[in-house]
Amino acid sequence: MAARALYSAHRALNLFLFIVLASFLFNIAFISAKSTIEPCSNADSCNALLGYTLYTDLKVSEVASLFQVDPISILTANAIDVSYPDVENHILPSKLFIKIPISCSCVDGIRKSVSTRYKTRPSDTLLSIADTIYAGLVSSDQIREANSISDPSVLDVGQTLVVPLPCTCFNGTDNSLPAIYLSYVVQLEDTLTGIAFRYSTTITDLMNVNAMGNPSIKAGDILAVPLPACASKFPRYSSDFGLIVPNGSYAITASHCVQCSCGPGNRNLYCMPAPFAVSCSSMQCRNSNLMLGNYTAQQSSAGCNVTSCSYGGFVNGTLLTTLSSNLQPRCPGPQQFPPLKAPPTTVIRDSNFAPVPAPQSDGTGSPAPRSGLIPSSIGSLPGLPPASGPVGTGFSSPSSSSSSSLANPLGSILAALMLFIVAYFLTSFSL
Ligand SMILES: *[C@@H]1O[C@H](CO)[C@@H](O)[C@H](O)[C@H]1NC(C)=O
Ligand SMILES: *[C@@H]1O[C@H](CO)[C@@H](O)[C@H](O)[C@H]1NC(C)=O
Ligand SMILES: *[C@@H]1O[C@H](CO)[C@@H](O)[C@H](O)[C@H]1NC(C)=O
Ligand SMILES: *[C@@H]1O[C@H](CO)[C@@H](O)[C@H](O)[C@H]1NC(C)=O
Ligand SMILES: *[C@@H]1O[C@H](CO)[C@@H](O)[C@H](O)[C@H]1NC(C)=O
Repeated sequence: MAARALYSAHRALNLFLFIVLASFLFNIAFISAKSTIEPCSNADSCNALLGYTLYTDLKVSEVASLFQVDPISILTANAIDVSYPDVENHILPSKLFIKIPISCSCVDGIRKSVSTRYKTRPSDTLLSIADTIYAGLVSSDQIREANSISDPSVLDVGQTLVVPLPCTCFNGTDNSLPAIYLSYVVQLEDTLTGIAFRYSTTITDLMNVNAMGNPSIKAGDILAVPLPACASKFPRYSSDFGLIVPNGSYAITASHCVQCSCGPGNRNLYCMPAPFAVSCSSMQCRNSNLMLGNYTAQQSSAGCNVTSCSYGGFVNGTLLTTLSSNLQPRCPGPQQFPPLKAPPTTVIRDSNFAPVPAPQSDGTGSPAPRSGLIPSSIGSLPGLPPASGPVGTGFSSPSSSSSSSLANPLGSILAALMLFIVAYFLTSFSL
């Protein structure tokens, strides 16, 4: 009798301990999301993108001030027509997914973006700032740490907080081809297959880049998604050194004087005067009558002699231009531009979990590309021919990714520990 009672008491205690431990570990191991971390050692920064889902209707300028970036840069990164009337005050709908271009630095040995500041408003909490306003791109703990907040329940209204945001550079390449990295917050309905499909990459590539042991992801994880891009070759001393533009989009540089585009046919960055270029220094190549982006082609028996005037970086308020000639097998056709979208007013659901044969780079598109950024009659082309051809995105070999990321080792250890405890109790109950 006594032995039996003792046994039941022991069992009850075991069960109690199990529940306490399990719920504790569950919280740590499964609530904390994974995020890809890139160690770094130099002071160089790179261009990167944040995938941001609007928590409410916001003007373009409001989104821009949330991240302290130029509103024009948000529009061009999303291939939205900037010539639309009063486009900065256009209201973007709640739940719209957009890409925010940011500068990715190296801070304390880790890649992150630290230029964003947020001024607190009444009724803000660290949790609402992290989860709602910045849509899961940052956690409340990260904001707390970055600002040395000892008591998170006390937030002064009007306090300015540093909002550290995730980003990666990975040397601006993916499988040795130019790439820019998008920090993507995994949504409840996402699968790795769906994300790979949506961004025209492969599961293998995503797993390599993010150093994942298996393809499982969960809501709140932050993945680094490589996007094929066109890289610039501006000199190190130019202020737009390292400019890299994702396929299908634009960037504005040189104090709004120059616009550069990437795609659709090749990975050559193509730069020309921006449509709203106002007080800009000369856009003409020296010793020629060609403007930035212009070219002349002369067919000869040896091939096509193409002379082009291209943009070479912004130095001390001056646009660098390069006039170059080269002989190509064929004369180039007209320059192709990524299609522009009107500023979105509604959210079109992404088809990212219903793979269909025709790949579409971005489901947020709305029809009717207007000719805003792009003068409709353009007889211009940069130096290189489309002969190099479109290069596929990521038919990756498993060994070729240069990532050395690390995905929440604490979580994995705790998960393993929890599994062990479950196993332990299962065996002890079967006695
Ligand atoms: C980084 O990329 C450049 C070309 O963009 C390449 O020459 C260099 O070898 C790369 N470095 C590493 C460490 O992969
Ligand atoms: C760039 O995007 C276009 C269409 O948006 C696509 O056809 C092309 O294959 C892409 N290029 C690369 C290098 O991914
Ligand atoms: C190509 O044309 C440019 C100017 O028209 C000329 O200076 C250059 O010598 C030509 N190159 C060849 C290889 O014919
Ligand atoms: C830019 O201007 C500063 C001073 O105005 C000068 O010291 C520097 O050498 C210039 N840089 C280049 C690349 O010309
Ligand atoms: C040169 O470029 C300018 C600006 O992009 C364009 O307006 C003009 O038509 C081009 N001229 C030629 C001859 O291609």
